[in-house]
Amino acid sequence: MNINEIIEQMTLEEKIQLCSGRDFWHTESLEQYDLPAIMMSDGPHGLRKQEDAADHLGVNKSIEATCFPSAAGLACSFDRELIGLVGETLGDECQAEGVAILLGPGANIKRSPLCGRNFEYFSEDPYLTGELAGAYINGVQSKNIGTSLKHFAVNNQEYERLVSSSEIDERTLREVYLTGFEMAVKNAKPWTVMCSYNRINGIYASEHKRLLGDVLKEEWQFEGAVISDWGAVSDRVKGLLAGMDLEMPGCQGLNDEVIREAVSSGVLPMKALDDSVKRILTMIRSFKNGKYEVTYDREEHHAVAIEIAKRSLVLLKNESVLPLKKDTDDLLIVGGFAEKPRYQGGGSSHVNAYKVTDFITAANEYAAITYAKGFPEDSDEWLENEAREAIEEAKTSGTVVVFAGLPELFESEGYDRTHMALPDCQNRLINELCQVNERVIIILQNGSPVEMPWVNDVEAILECYLGGEGVAEGVWQVLFGDYNPSGKLAESFPLKLSDTPAYLNYGGYRQKTYYNEGIYVGYRYYDSRDLDVLFPFGHGLSYTTFEHDNLDISQRTFNDTDTVMVSIDILNTGQCTGREIVQLYVRDKTNQVQRPLKELKGFESVLLEPGETKKISFALDKRSFAYYETTIEDWYVPSGIYEVMVGSSSRDIRDCIEVKVLSTTELPWVIDQDTKLGLLLEHSKTRQYCIEHIMPEFEAFTKALAGSLSDNLANALLNARTIRSLRSFSGISNARISKMVADLNGLLVS
Ligand code: BGC
Repeated sequence: MNINEIIEQMTLEEKIQLCSGRDFWHTESLEQYDLPAIMMSDGPHGLRKQEDAADHLGVNKSIEATCFPSAAGLACSFDRELIGLVGETLGDECQAEGVAILLGPGANIKRSPLCGRNFEYFSEDPYLTGELAGAYINGVQSKNIGTSLKHFAVNNQEYERLVSSSEIDERTLREVYLTGFEMAVKNAKPWTVMCSYNRINGIYASEHKRLLGDVLKEEWQFEGAVISDWGAVSDRVKGLLAGMDLEMPGCQGLNDEVIREAVSSGVLPMKALDDSVKRILTMIRSFKNGKYEVTYDREEHHAVAIEIAKRSLVLLKNESVLPLKKDTDDLLIVGGFAEKPRYQGGGSSHVNAYKVTDFITAANEYAAITYAKGFPEDSDEWLENEAREAIEEAKTSGTVVVFAGLPELFESEGYDRTHMALPDCQNRLINELCQVNERVIIILQNGSPVEMPWVNDVEAILECYLGGEGVAEGVWQVLFGDYNPSGKLAESFPLKLSDTPAYLNYGGYRQKTYYNEGIYVGYRYYDSRDLDVLFPFGHGLSYTTFEHDNLDISQRTFNDTDTVMVSIDILNTGQCTGREIVQLYVRDKTNQVQRPLKELKGFESVLLEPGETKKISFALDKRSFAYYETTIEDWYVPSGIYEVMVGSSSRDIRDCIEVKVLSTTELPWVIDQDTKLGLLLEHSKTRQYCIEHIMPEFEAFTKALAGSLSDNLANALLNARTIRSLRSFSGISNARISKMVADLNGLLVS
């Protein structure tokens, strides 16, 4: 039986039952149609399959599984293929464990470093987010396992996450907060999308008809099922009408009656219910038909976790102290995180990792080390004896490696951070260590940026984010030069919290948070404001050096409907094999509307032997140049000059080319008596009429200005006049003004 035939046979009761989960992790089964209950599990950076007590807060134990770096770290690889491999490996584990849907990836934008869940999100940049989320989905789904792209949408804080309304304008919504979802939906077709808890402009995401129905399902042609975040349903019928198909974790029958009544009273048309049923059945069928027997080797997956971990590390600073020499015998390790690495975040994504090596054990392969705890990994407590011991040891050690970071309690799903500082005890000890030893190296484990008051005093900084179960092996490979670091930051590290774009609005009050910073998020803000940052978006060092050469583009002038190719040669000019992440940014120089100084529109990760050159290319299309124009409810490219910039980070642009893009869309323009002369003079269709019929009426005004003001000022004042001002300053009647307006509008359509 095909799905339509099944729906025809289903009773109303069966349909209703299918629209909510059977229990915490399963859908309802329909044995009579040979459709099993399927299981969903978190996600995203490892499989959190719970066999016993279920919860969505990371409380109860799940089965052993491979733990990969969380999205914040993965994103630093800027590598679609690598993230695809993470997805495939997770897909295998899901097949082996009978899990049908992995609840991830998270594609929310990092609006502020304070969001407690930033570790689970990729980036502050929507393009990067969309590409990487798509790669993850493709990887998992290549194994016939579904994904759930979450949390849709504008869920960028944990504070009041169940109720808070994200108050946002349409352009910001489209350009910053929806683009990542849009790209992933269109390019990777996730089996499901998970709607978020919060409200958007007052309406719960789970009831947002415009978002779920009009945008996701109609405009983006999403064919999968929308599922609710766990407990995100408020009004079930409004949800079904909006396009929210499956309620999770189920309603224990409570909403069944509500749906039944809505159908019988005609409030909920059967067609809407059938559409949801069809989407849910398709998902169940896909899993059932694509299920296969597979086993996997945990050690092999652990090796993948190490590979992914090292590719995610970002060398933020290196004053030539790294890589370390292998025969070093006077290496001091400090910090509680060395014993107990912080390799994953708290909350629903918490995985029962297969095998986590600590940094001290992993170091044994490379060097004889001394360890002094110095500070705890789980609190902000100054431990006098431990700190003194570390300082004494540091006096006679060749190099000090400090394992610092955010204790688990400092950041988690469920609440936000209130500051960006590391625990005082860590900052204080790092300062003291720098006073007695000149070779201090900091290894950071944190889900989101931290302030670094000691940045100028230490010799090197390696950012691990939350690097998964392979992080310790990966870190030592980098420190001793067995792997040349290649990660780059997928978010800006601001100098201090008060520099951040959402600083004055983040969190909000009375259950509303205003997105007043608009499209200026992350580097879009820091660059446009010309603000110094601690480390910019896209930054990351290598042990080798790269040259960028021969930037070229297939056309210098083209229509907005064309796709053009940009190419550049990347040369490894150093002594060791290395990976460069090349970034392409576009700048709008047309001055038609406010735009950020630059926006990421392409990236590639390229591996090069010493002396090797590779040509890489990027395709640019309409969306690479467009902004969201609300008057036409569509993407629009103003005609004019754009700059295509290629570089090694957002603040290390190596070369650029100017191009001219011609719009093929004309924006609707209705002239009225408030239209300014300046605009009439600019437009080819109205310019002549303005010169002939309107300007002469301003003759006296023009003459008066010409005698006493500079030409620039006189022109500015004249251009700012409206047609209506003819009445006050030139005695033109309302009837004549109306005629002029009509004539001008006539010219526009001629
Ligand atoms: C989280 C989701 C998660 C779900 C199930 C919710 O609290 O927001 O990301 O997938 O729980 O655990």
